[in-house]
Amino acid sequence: MKSIRDYETVALDDENDAVVIIDQTLLPGKTELISLKTGEEIWNAIYLLKVRGAPAIGVTAAFGIYLLAKRIDTESFDVFYQEFRKQKEYLDSSRPTAVNLSWALRRMEQVCLANREKPVAEIKMLLKKEAVEIKEEDIRVCKAIGEHGLSLVKPGDGILTHCNAGQLAACKYGTATAPIYLGEERGYHFRVFADETRPLLQGARLTAYELYSSGVDVTLICDNMSGTVMQNGWVNAVFVGCDRVAANGDTANKIGTSVVAAVAKRYNIPVYICAPTATIDLSTPTGADITIEQRPAHEVTQMWYREPMAPEGVKVFNPAFDVTDHDLIAGIVTEYGVAREPYTESLREIFRRKEQG
Ligand code: MRU
Repeated sequence: MKSIRDYETVALDDENDAVVIIDQTLLPGKTELISLKTGEEIWNAIYLLKVRGAPAIGVTAAFGIYLLAKRIDTESFDVFYQEFRKQKEYLDSSRPTAVNLSWALRRMEQVCLANREKPVAEIKMLLKKEAVEIKEEDIRVCKAIGEHGLSLVKPGDGILTHCNAGQLAACKYGTATAPIYLGEERGYHFRVFADETRPLLQGARLTAYELYSSGVDVTLICDNMSGTVMQNGWVNAVFVGCDRVAANGDTANKIGTSVVAAVAKRYNIPVYICAPTATIDLSTPTGADITIEQRPAHEVTQMWYREPMAPEGVKVFNPAFDVTDHDLIAGIVTEYGVAREPYTESLREIFRRKEQG
């Protein structure tokens, strides 16, 4: 039987001018692929979390801007670029916290600017090449994160994760799940605890689903149970993903991550942030400078319930992410190795390694 990991999280259907995604709001009950064709469809799919997770959002935006650029009917670079910029800014406004979105769109814009002397038709081909490369790079990067992450744990370890930084959040392997999948292939037999991740249940609907259907030993827990499983001695390491890492190592990830990290510190359990360099933003000095997305109240009060779970009209606070302070983080696992405190230096060193190739 086909497992959810046999599907591509994001794919380009160039012939039909579409970005094809799995509608993640329907998982785990229904696996439905949807084709996004217009700018509005792409924007809405990102905003409504039909496609979500920092790397997957970046890849969707890259394919999306390529398709929108392909439709710009002009031979003048200036006219082309003006329209390109408009569409780019529109897609960039769909979600604010995951830096991969603006990172991927900026990379696509650079292709336009670096080739402005070439015919527009050729620029369009180069945009396609870049978008495909962003996706392929994501697969290589996640695999490398998996190798570095695997060196931090041993066979039989208990691993706790929050939200979904799995294949459904990227293109293959995921980030926080990459060490788990690679370990599984090599007989490590981890015992994984997946936080359900209120309010949108990415842990229950997505992480528990993709790990379980891959044969990983996964136990689903409510968010308020992570303290108990750590206290019981069942967790050796926490692996989570991230949406933006600031220059000092403060890290924004799904709301609740900072609570997990604080409790893990209490029990001396290392917290590892799995971060492609695309998610590290050295131009943001600290976590306080990261824009945290606020989402609608109905996601908390009723979205995943048959009946509303709160009195109508009650005040709701619904930030999608929180910031984990760098002193709660044992290491930031990138494709170029593991950065440790002091992050202001080690993250720069990671980028030096990247520049050297
Ligand atoms: O709101 P979401 O589901 O997009 O939030 C996703 C997360 O917080 C992930 O942990 C993060 O994007 C990393 S995905 C590899």
